[in-house]
Amino acid sequence: MGEDGQAAKPVSGRRGDLSLSTAIEESEMVADGILLRVKGLTKKFPGVVALDGVDIEARAGEIHGICGENGAGKSTLIKMLTGAHTPDSGTIEFDGVTYTALDPRRAMAIGIGCIYQELNLIPHLSVAENIFLGREIYLSDSLNILDRAQMNAKAAELLADIDLNVSPRARLGTLGVGHQQMIEICRAIWSNAKLIIMDEPTSSLSEKEAHDLFRVMARMKERGVAILFISHRLDEIRANCDTVTVMRDGRTIESFAMKERSVDNIIQLMVGRNIQNKYPKERAAHGDVVLSVRNLNRKGVLHDINFELRAGEVLGFAGLVGAGRTETARAITGADPFDSGTIEVFGKEVKIRQPLDSINAGIAFLTENRKEQGLILIQSVAFNATIVKMHKYGKAGWLSLKGIRETARKICAEMRLKTSGMDMLVGKLSGGNQQKVVIAKWLLSNAKIFIFDEPTRGIDVGAKVEVYKLINQLVAGGAGVIIICSEMEEVMGMADRILVMHEGEITGEMTQEEATQERIMYAASGFKQAS
Ligand SMILES: Nc1ncnc2c1ncn2[C@@H]1O[C@H](COP(=O)(O)OP(=O)(O)OP(=O)(O)O)[C@@H](O)[C@H]1O
Ligand SMILES: [Mg+2]
Repeated sequence: MGEDGQAAKPVSGRRGDLSLSTAIEESEMVADGILLRVKGLTKKFPGVVALDGVDIEARAGEIHGICGENGAGKSTLIKMLTGAHTPDSGTIEFDGVTYTALDPRRAMAIGIGCIYQELNLIPHLSVAENIFLGREIYLSDSLNILDRAQMNAKAAELLADIDLNVSPRARLGTLGVGHQQMIEICRAIWSNAKLIIMDEPTSSLSEKEAHDLFRVMARMKERGVAILFISHRLDEIRANCDTVTVMRDGRTIESFAMKERSVDNIIQLMVGRNIQNKYPKERAAHGDVVLSVRNLNRKGVLHDINFELRAGEVLGFAGLVGAGRTETARAITGADPFDSGTIEVFGKEVKIRQPLDSINAGIAFLTENRKEQGLILIQSVAFNATIVKMHKYGKAGWLSLKGIRETARKICAEMRLKTSGMDMLVGKLSGGNQQKVVIAKWLLSNAKIFIFDEPTRGIDVGAKVEVYKLINQLVAGGAGVIIICSEMEEVMGMADRILVMHEGEITGEMTQEEATQERIMYAASGFKQAS
């Protein structure tokens, strides 16, 4: 392998004395040059060309956004840079040295750090232990004894440096996702990373957490660190990136300075067509109440939740991350127990003790975390898309696999699912395409009540529009739909009526016409609406 012939620059064994100032000096050396130059990178998987001659350059001290539809090849490119995958051909030039492939150890040693979406930290270890994982500070080189005092002190310094008010001794598992990501950033700073890669880092963060992340990114950038930032939220790209590269079908389409282009322009490059209406809302006639939730309580989590959902209605749940929206959905669908309250479906009380009870009552729940709850990754697209339906047909003693597959294929095509075929394993699809399979699965289920928790998380702009159209179809067919959205624009664009939650309580209710960002924020911050 060519990589063996080209040794990476040696990294000195300065355990413990690698201070922040060293990181600054070193990165200043490359401050005005190009730090990363990828040329002609190609990677094929069976049936898919994931990367097809990708070229991309990143400079020290810039935030470089990467945009592209689901399956465009963004994560695959990142995996070549972190050494998780080996390219078939092409080169990666980093800090003046050319490589034909990297492995994880070498990538880290030469200064490429990555903040993965599925965090790579260990929950039961302390914050400091996680920051220094694999690069611990020892009391002396000969003795294999950790210098905990120094590690804690150094960690405190790193945390203070990014204004993170967390104790180095705190157990990592007690922190929220946002703070855990910050700990990953501390790790990258400690390892002296010159390039920090972030693959959809904000998809599970609250707005405040995302804001904190952008502040830290700006600080890293000032120090001369280059950041590759992948996101489907184009407003974030516009607000934080200096340069943007658009990828499509495994190729880089164009790189440009963000200030020279508009978001619409990026969308056009990404999907190869114009999207006129980002929220193609169509109102359906509202009918009878299909779901009624009364005085739902769960100690310390939910407080007296009351609401009704009508046939043909899209009811939006807004609020900050942690406000209790997912918890409400989980209680209604039997995923979590509740202490008191009643749930009526079509005017009849139903006892829901486990998820199967709610499925049998006709409630479909699309969970926010597809990996944990939604999909069987080692099964095929067809299997996953049809699993709910098969259950139904199986009970009736009749299984028309062919018919089900045909419908599944149709829905997947509508959402532009990128796969080498219906037999492809779901685990090998790109993140956003996995989400589309979850949606297809529930759309096939014949349910009359749908609860979508963050339905478009990780989905590209073009596919979002298709998901909204499918929601239109559901309500036009008489279903009632609940959408839980963190993006204010989305809930305002698609819901007929909005409920706002704060700390386990409903603090506001408004129609689509009445809704404004201010009004939602007001209720989301815990101020109750004057009635
Ligand atoms: N291990 C694998 N085996 C087979 N195909 C794969 C594998 N990893 C990725 N692919 C395919 O390569 C293509 C690019 O996927 P990638 O994950 O890079 O997309 P992405 O741009 O990150 O998309 P998303 O926005 O949905 O995360 C997809 O068609 C995907 O199915
Ligand atoms: Mg991806």
